[in-house]
Amino acid sequence: MSIKNYVRLEFQSLPENVSFARSCVGSFASQIDCTLEEIEEIKLVVSEAVSNSIIHGYDNRTNEKIFVMVTIADDRCLEIMVEDRGKGIADVKQAMEPTYSSDETRMGLGFTFMKSFMDDMEVISSPGEGTIVKMRRTFMSHEKEAYA
Ligand SMILES: Nc1ncnc2c1ncn2[C@@H]1O[C@H](COP(=O)(O)OP(=O)(O)O)[C@@H](O)[C@H]1O
Ligand SMILES: [Mg+2]
Repeated sequence: MSIKNYVRLEFQSLPENVSFARSCVGSFASQIDCTLEEIEEIKLVVSEAVSNSIIHGYDNRTNEKIFVMVTIADDRCLEIMVEDRGKGIADVKQAMEPTYSSDETRMGLGFTFMKSFMDDMEVISSPGEGTIVKMRRTFMSHEKEAYA
């Protein structure tokens, strides 16, 4: 795997930074030859992961840190990591089940969206230490369509 480009972000756990991270990663990912629809999917995935860090990881505390690392490898492969040093997840398997939420007012579909829009997703978490969500997606080439 050859790394073509990467970006690392560190920002405060403020709700307004959800849209900051979303546009930032969307704009970085557009270096890959992919469709606008695909970029929208990437943005959605980033919003879900970052808002989880704020809402669940940090229980809406706004003076904590969130880290996002994005890598483009082999021209077509995008890897996104979202990390918080918050409360962590005791049961990752349960947390990833569709419609499961520890908050009854929420839909519990964030991880389901992340999984469905990415090729693979890994959640590394331990209670009291924090959570890392690692996701990867390889985009198909659209080069041929351009010349069709
Ligand atoms: N970064 C995180 N830190 C702590 N808990 C998390 C984190 N991300 C997700 N969770 C847990 O996983 C559950 C499922 O997350 P998700 O599918 O996004 O649904 P929702 O956010 O609607 O609850 C959350 O309700 C929460 O308990
Ligand atoms: Mg969520």
